[in-house]
Order: sequence, then C-alpha cells, then structure tokens
Amino acid sequence: MDRPKKRDVLRAVNSMSSLCENGGKKEGIRAVNSVCSISELTDEDLLSRLLDRPRLKLERKKSYEEMSLSLYDSAHSLDGRSGWDTPVFSMKDSSDLNPMVTEAWEALCRSQVYFREKPVGTIAAYDHASEDVLNYDQVFVRDFVPSALAFLMKGEPDIVKNFLLKTLHIQGQDKMIDKFKLGDGAMPASFKVLHNPIKKTDSIIADFGESAIGRVAPVDSGFWWIILLRAYTKSTGDHSLAERPECQKGMRLILSLCLSEGFDTFPTLLCADGCSMVDRRMGIYGYPIEIQALFFMALRSALSMLKHDSEGKEFMEKIVKRLHALSFHMRSYFWLDFQQLNDIYRYKTEEYSHTAVNKFNVIPDSIPDWIFDFMPLRGGYFVGNVSPARMDFRWFALGNCIAILSSLATPEQSMAIMDLIEARWEELVGEMPLKICYPAMESHEWRIVTGCDPKNTRWSYHNGGSWPVLLWLLTAASIKTGRPQIARRAIELAEARLLKDGWPEYYDGKSGRFIGKQARKFQTWSIAGYLVAKMMMDDPTHVGMISMEEEKHMKPPLRRSSSWT
Ligand code: GLC
Repeated sequence: MDRPKKRDVLRAVNSMSSLCENGGKKEGIRAVNSVCSISELTDEDLLSRLLDRPRLKLERKKSYEEMSLSLYDSAHSLDGRSGWDTPVFSMKDSSDLNPMVTEAWEALCRSQVYFREKPVGTIAAYDHASEDVLNYDQVFVRDFVPSALAFLMKGEPDIVKNFLLKTLHIQGQDKMIDKFKLGDGAMPASFKVLHNPIKKTDSIIADFGESAIGRVAPVDSGFWWIILLRAYTKSTGDHSLAERPECQKGMRLILSLCLSEGFDTFPTLLCADGCSMVDRRMGIYGYPIEIQALFFMALRSALSMLKHDSEGKEFMEKIVKRLHALSFHMRSYFWLDFQQLNDIYRYKTEEYSHTAVNKFNVIPDSIPDWIFDFMPLRGGYFVGNVSPARMDFRWFALGNCIAILSSLATPEQSMAIMDLIEARWEELVGEMPLKICYPAMESHEWRIVTGCDPKNTRWSYHNGGSWPVLLWLLTAASIKTGRPQIARRAIELAEARLLKDGWPEYYDGKSGRFIGKQARKFQTWSIAGYLVAKMMMDDPTHVGMISMEEEKHMKPPLRRSSSWT
C-alpha cells in the first residue's frame, strides 16, 4: 500500500458518548467528536506533535455523514517502517458503535469513588460475587492510571484533577509503620473513602504499605503520580495545576526520596520485593525493570513540569545528571538480544578493575536454559533485574512498554522489543494479552523465590499470569513504534473474551486461556485498559499524553549488537 501523504494522515474521530457525566449516572448522551488534522508538517514535526504536545482540542458536534467521511486510515508510523499497511480506524471498528465499549464505559463509571460528592478515583474491582473483598474496594494509585487516561481521552479531566489533589493531600499525612516513620514523599498504594451516613461526613484512610499483605512498599505510586500529572497537563493544556505550589512541593518530595545520595554504586533505584504492580514476593527485589522504567519516565515528566525557581532548579540539575547515567546504565547493562546473550554465554568471570568486560560478574552457568530457545535472532528486551552476579533474565511487560513510551529504549531497542513480542507471540500474548512476565517459575525455584506463595503458582497471577490491563501499554507501545497491527491483533483477542468473562483481573495458563484462579471480576483496570487501547487506536494522538520522544543527548555511545545498531 502506498504511503499516504502527511496532510492526509491524521483525521481521527473520537466520539465517545459521555456516560460518566452527572455523577456516573447515565443521563443524556452527548455526542462530542474531536477532529485533529495535521498537515504541512515534516516527519519530525508530526511525531513531536503526536507524542509530545498537548492535544489539539477542537470539539464540535458532527453529523453522522460528516463523521463517516472523516473516518480515515489514521495509522501513523514513527519510523516509516510499518503501520501503513492496515488502517487503524475503520467504520466497523468505530468505538462508539461497539456495544462492548458502551458496556465498558458503564462499568467504569460505576466504579467511581466519591469524596464529598466529587469523584476522586475508581475502585479496584466492583466484584459483588467475591466473598473476600480484601482491599479491592479501595482506590489504588497504579490501578487508577488507565481509568484516568480514559477519562482524559474522553475530555472529562475533573476526576483526574481531584485524584491528583486528594493523593497529594494524603502524601502530607504522617505515615507510620509500627514505630517507623516513612519518608515525607511516600505516596499511598491505595486509599478508601469512608462514608458516615449518620454524620453525613466522608473521611479517608490510606495504605502506605502498613496494611498491605506482606507490608510491601508502593515505590511505583509516586512515579505514577508524577506521570499522571504530566498526562493531565498535556491532555488539558492546563498548566496551572502542575504549577501550584503544593504540586511542585509534592513532586520535589517524591524526587527527594529517589535522588538522595547514599551508598549506591549504580544510578538505578534499589528496591525491596513487591514494590510495584507485582506486589508480592516474586524475586523482583534489587533493581526491577518496572521501577527503573517508571523512575526514568517520572524523572523526565518532572523535568518538564518543575518551575525554574531556586528549589526547582536544584532538582532539575540532579534529574539531568541522573537521567544521563540511568539511560546509559539501562541501555548498556539491562539490554539483552541474541548478540548480547552470546557474549554473556562466553563471559570470563572474576575480572577485576576498570577493564572488566563482565562488570557484574555474571556466571554463565546461571543463564537459565529457556532463554536459549526464547531469544529470537531479531529482537531484544530489557531484562528483569541486574545486580552483582545476578541477572534476572525474565521478560516483564510493563517495564519494557514503559521503556518504549519514555524513550528509555533507543528507537532501535524499541523496535527490537516489538520484534520480540511478534516473534514470541504464543508465549507472551497467547490467547489473552498480555503476560505480566515470562516465563513462570516452577517447583524448587517457585518455592525458594516466592516463599511457596499459593497465589503465585506457575502461570498464574504475578507468576506468568496474563493481565488484560497491560493491553493499553502494548497498544501505546505499538502505536509509538508505528506497528498498530500488533495492537489490533491483541485487542481482537481481548474482545473475544473480556466482556463475556466479566472483565477478569487476570488469566492463568501457559497461553492465558483460563480465568485466573482467584481473579476478581469487573476489575476496573481491565475495563479501563481496554477503553484506553480502543481510544488510542481510534485517535493515535492520545498516545502523546503518555509518550515521550528521545532526547538526543541521552544517546549512548555504545554500539554493540545487531538489533541495537
Ligand atoms: C493486586 C495487584 C496490584 C493491584 C491490586 C489492586 O494486588 O498485584 O498490582 O494494584 O491488586 O488491583
């Protein structure tokens, strides 16, 4: 298919019914379409507009005929390699005609949580059938991210603003675990609104890890908060929220926690196990890829929002230095492809001094057998963890997708990550997108690493389970790398099951065929993740909220493998 002219490229129509207005009750459907047309731009202009600027907000009512005229093949490639072959948007896909999308919006609206009549977030799962609610009736910071993106994409930013301010307020509370006081910057994993029907008051209880199973630390919460603040700013064009003194202070407090000097010898962030979406013991302690990628994205987001006053400047200087070191470290030592694997396989050990090639003293015997078959000739990924004599070769979805979106991955590495997903589709996507990590741990390894966790048996939950929420990240990464066909295939798989199965939290099995053993139904981020994926496919400019272009100065000097160069 011929590559379309740039001026014809982008006419995406977004016409979601506004189901959530009026307190989440379905009152009156507003047909609002946003039409963005970008013409007369260079490739670079087009890309930076798509990915790095506030969304054009031209809202007006459109007739059905007009709408169908502007439904257009809006696939946009970021590298000119692929993405033009198949239309991203076609009449039959149109989200507003899709009953699954309508059901998803209704479910998402139902999950809204109110504080003094204002929506402040979404509950983790709206699962009445489940006897044991645990903390699924709370608003989780990480779980709210896809909900927030969905609301932003629909042009309903208030709930996101309320959430950002509410969690900021919670950050200011005294945080104690037993007799130990947590850092001022710590953001909660989750919070719950308590309604007192007699006094007619609302109050909040937050969990910073002091109630969480295993007392895990939500290191990712603060990073997601900063990333969401940027998404809000980009989507609405409203800079006043990020510029508020309390938001500037909130950002600085989060940054203080991770930019302080200590005993570190690496620019990566040292974490305890269970510190992120994988919030149980799963051998992700040390320098987990999910946290490093979110850390990188949060640093870049903060850099774009911090004020150039004396306090802000001090942080900006620290951020620039850290970004430089972090991108070098990650791109060099976490990157694995065929060539790199072969190099490690042939590593000498016990090397001393600056001339060491095997800097972390990885013992080749510790390379797991599965990786030799798994690694395609073309493709690569950021491994799960790197620290002295320990390389966790597992593939993790979230960290790799965030690495693409934040441009922690070079454009070549981003392509290689997508190549690997295509090459290992059966293993990583299977029947339900997307595996949280690959492969699962079994037997002795499972016993030692998870502490015999019955929820994390092989190919279940965090141990190789398939999480529909990850669909939005895969979709965003596919669009950014100009390969929307990958997202389209994944969305089709999700559409075959998700609604029918009641929006489960996760699926089990080697190919993700079974509804998870203990999976909640009506899991909000499964619902929101689907909506975000659909809306991004309908209007790829949405990806700009959550995506960043590469900074030229971060390019690494190293060139060392086929899929990297
Ligand atoms: C589980 C998940 C965690 C999520 C929470 C609420 O604990 O592991 O990532 O935030 O459920 O959905």
